[in-house]
Amino acid sequence: MTRDRLIIFDTTLRDGEQSPGASMTRNEKVRIAKALEKMKVDVIEAGFAIASEGDFKAVKAVAESIKDCTVCSLARANVTDIERAAEALKPANVARIHTFIATSPIHMKYKLKMDPESVLEQAVSSVKLARNLAPDVEFSLEDASRSEFEFMCRIIERVIAAGAGTINIPDTVGYGEPMEYGHTIARLIENIPNSDQAIFSVHCHNDLGLAVANSLSAVVNGARQVECTVNGLGERAGNASLEEVVMAIKTRSDLFAVETNIDTTQIVPASRLVASVTGFPVQPNKAIVGANAFAHESGIHQDGVLKFRETYEIMRAEDVGWNANKLVLGKHSGRAAVRARFEDLGIEFADQDELNEAFVRFKALADKKHEIFDEDLQALVTDVQEAHFEDLYQLKYLEVTSKTGGIPRAKLILNCRGDEKSAEAEGSGPVDAAFKAIEEIVHSGTSLQLYSVNAITSGTDSLGEVTVRLEKGGRIVNGSGADTDIVIASAKAYLIALNIILSDGKREHPQVEGV
Ligand code: KIV
Ligand code: ZN
Repeated sequence: MTRDRLIIFDTTLRDGEQSPGASMTRNEKVRIAKALEKMKVDVIEAGFAIASEGDFKAVKAVAESIKDCTVCSLARANVTDIERAAEALKPANVARIHTFIATSPIHMKYKLKMDPESVLEQAVSSVKLARNLAPDVEFSLEDASRSEFEFMCRIIERVIAAGAGTINIPDTVGYGEPMEYGHTIARLIENIPNSDQAIFSVHCHNDLGLAVANSLSAVVNGARQVECTVNGLGERAGNASLEEVVMAIKTRSDLFAVETNIDTTQIVPASRLVASVTGFPVQPNKAIVGANAFAHESGIHQDGVLKFRETYEIMRAEDVGWNANKLVLGKHSGRAAVRARFEDLGIEFADQDELNEAFVRFKALADKKHEIFDEDLQALVTDVQEAHFEDLYQLKYLEVTSKTGGIPRAKLILNCRGDEKSAEAEGSGPVDAAFKAIEEIVHSGTSLQLYSVNAITSGTDSLGEVTVRLEKGGRIVNGSGADTDIVIASAKAYLIALNIILSDGKREHPQVEGV
């Protein structure tokens, strides 16, 4: 069977980042982009350049670092957004501008306050402008699954004629159902006279848990690009999960007449990196990348798998990158070995000082923990690189006491932009006491929305990775910190979240503002 190529468009860095609290720094975005490049995704949507100065710089940094994938920025269908996207994408080897406008009656009336004809004209002029600024233009009809069919046909025909090479039909609110959504894709392709001049793409949200099913149904019906995210991260219930789409296509090649270019062995490493950077842990029973995805608990299953693996396994764990977290380094590993492993992981340091600092932290960790895995190195780098992130507050010293029957206490010293300040507090536990001591100094006015601890690898000497989610004035951010001591990891995570929320300016959201 000859197979069409299915383009994998990853939007972890854009739609994924729209998950409340999943904001990523520029360095983190570049690290994830490199993992995506290693996985051989076709297109990386690096962000929404107009959203803020930080987002602009992040898109630019990804465009500078990525050589083998198309790098894309989102832009609403207006001149300012499109010009900003083009500017951020200038360093890219292959740049794509992804412009969109809502086409459903409800969005046009209440959000855009525009009539359909004006939406159509705005779409066409935006695509023309984008084509003058970039060779590759994608156009999305936001809320397509609730848009009128005839109107979509008219607008799509016109934007293809104006130069859009990819037409995306998003299920923005996760309303679609596989049969109906797939049928819509087939009818659009059939009814639009110039549909052969564009690739049809789908972008499905998971509000009804149908994002992957809808995407696959669209592929059966002619879509040749799927937009997805690592771990299914994304606005609200998330987007179609990249790993599920890719592995369904591969495992059921008897049903799907397409193939992807993905190196599936990079799936688990990418999933772990995204989970660690965003602080969104992967549920154990998550398909493909959950800790239990290949674990057989029942005796009958174990027996079957030992006799003949395919009795209960439809995929091989090693094909998606399980077991790829080789035991790499230990106490006696030298600088060259550590540096080589960092390079293998696609981690780059800003300068020699940053590498030195990472090496010092590696040695300190190896003293406490005998076996250092790739995940430990990733966490360590997050710590080193985040230490440079607009630090208003840095942890200098922390001492906690807790004993049975006693009241936990924390004493700490923070470096506040060069000034050292100390505080003491009691709490219901050592972590609570540490957070209260920090607040004695900072008085941040934030509220704690989530606190979670994860062991990065197994064993009681493992690094504990803590995620803290804070909210202030409607803005939500995550901070994560890792340490073999979970109270210290907690204080680091809390301070990272505070530093972000207290220093970052307002960001625009692509889907709540008009054009
Ligand atoms: O969900 C959506 O409609 C989007 C578009 C901007 C593609 O994210
Ligand atoms: Zn979306």
